[in-house]
Amino acid sequence: MATQPIVKKTACVVGGSGFVASLLIKLLLGKGYAVNTTVRNPDNEKKISHLKALQSLGELKIFGADLTEEGSFDAPVAGCDLVFHVATPVNFASEDPENDMIKPAVQGVLNVLNACAKAKTVKRVVLTSSAAAVSINTLKGTDLVVDETNWTDVEFLSTQKPPTWGYPVSKTLAEKAAWKFAEENKIELITVIPSLMTGASLTPDIPSSIQLGASLLTGNEFLINAMKGMHMLSGSISITHVEDVCQAHIFLAEKESASGRYVCCAINTSVPELAKFLNKRYPQYQVPTDFGDFPSKPKLIISSEKLIKEGFSFKYGIEDIYDQTVEYIKAKGLLKH
Ligand SMILES: NC(=O)c1ccc[n+]([C@@H]2O[C@H](COP(=O)([O-])OP(=O)(O)OC[C@H]3O[C@@H](n4cnc5c(N)ncnc54)[C@H](OP(=O)(O)O)[C@@H]3O)[C@@H](O)[C@H]2O)c1
Repeated sequence: MATQPIVKKTACVVGGSGFVASLLIKLLLGKGYAVNTTVRNPDNEKKISHLKALQSLGELKIFGADLTEEGSFDAPVAGCDLVFHVATPVNFASEDPENDMIKPAVQGVLNVLNACAKAKTVKRVVLTSSAAAVSINTLKGTDLVVDETNWTDVEFLSTQKPPTWGYPVSKTLAEKAAWKFAEENKIELITVIPSLMTGASLTPDIPSSIQLGASLLTGNEFLINAMKGMHMLSGSISITHVEDVCQAHIFLAEKESASGRYVCCAINTSVPELAKFLNKRYPQYQVPTDFGDFPSKPKLIISSEKLIKEGFSFKYGIEDIYDQTVEYIKAKGLLKH
């Protein structure tokens, strides 16, 4: 009897050098996918050393591509079954967010989706959006719930320009552009909407989101203030383990019934609540717990009910998230003891 050849499914991961994408690639290779990934500069050995190391786990091809270059994604996407568009320009210190983040993010989505439309093999595209695309609004109160039906208030951000406004605007407009293109071109799109991620990273440098999430432990005043700013602008400190976010990407790519947007957020808390938790669990780091009249409760919770109803379960709660973060930043020398 003739045996059927086993045909591997191929996934393209756009922006493979990043914190989230490199772990996603590792998990996809572990599941037996062949992976094409893109980086801006495949000759930058330092930036892609962790990807080269992943090539021992399976079939991983590395392509050069830039979000702002038309046609850049045609080669890596050609022949793929799934495409994960993870890359985004991140530059919180930018003095020109319009050109540094907003335009390239939108252009990037259109370039990647154009390549998917041309390829004709792509069954589903999974775009990494952000809680920053749903949670920012001018509502007042506590215990508000936001989910996939909500969109960040771009009008408010673009007129008031609070610190870091360019990033949430770029994520919101990029996701909206993706939905428009997908509808017009009959592309099956899923968007994953994660909160701040921490845990451990494969990247050579410590990702800025881990440094932010760990700032109360490391005592970095600049980043503690950034956490407070995030709480005030977004209405909460919402945290998820990076591995859960990557697993959610794969789960949604493979789950036939999945459709639309999916929030992926394990924990909703506030700066003072998080500080109390960290102070108790890791007393050796003497995390401060007095935040004066800073709001002790989050204004809102970002609900993952839709993802959970689809059948996904989060592996990591707050204890595991921070135990792994502490181990990782200790190993990287960011925490002394
Ligand atoms: N980390 C979080 O806490 C968090 C939370 C919510 C949502 N997200 C979303 O998750 C995704 C991944 O985030 P991350 O934390 O992994 O970010 P990251 O480590 O900063 O990675 C960003 C990636 O985007 C690539 N990129 C930037 N500009 C590009 C361009 N013009 N052309 C091609 N590639 C470009 C970078 O490539 P280079 O290596 O060439 O710079 C890098 O690989 C993003 O969409 C982000 O918005 C992240």
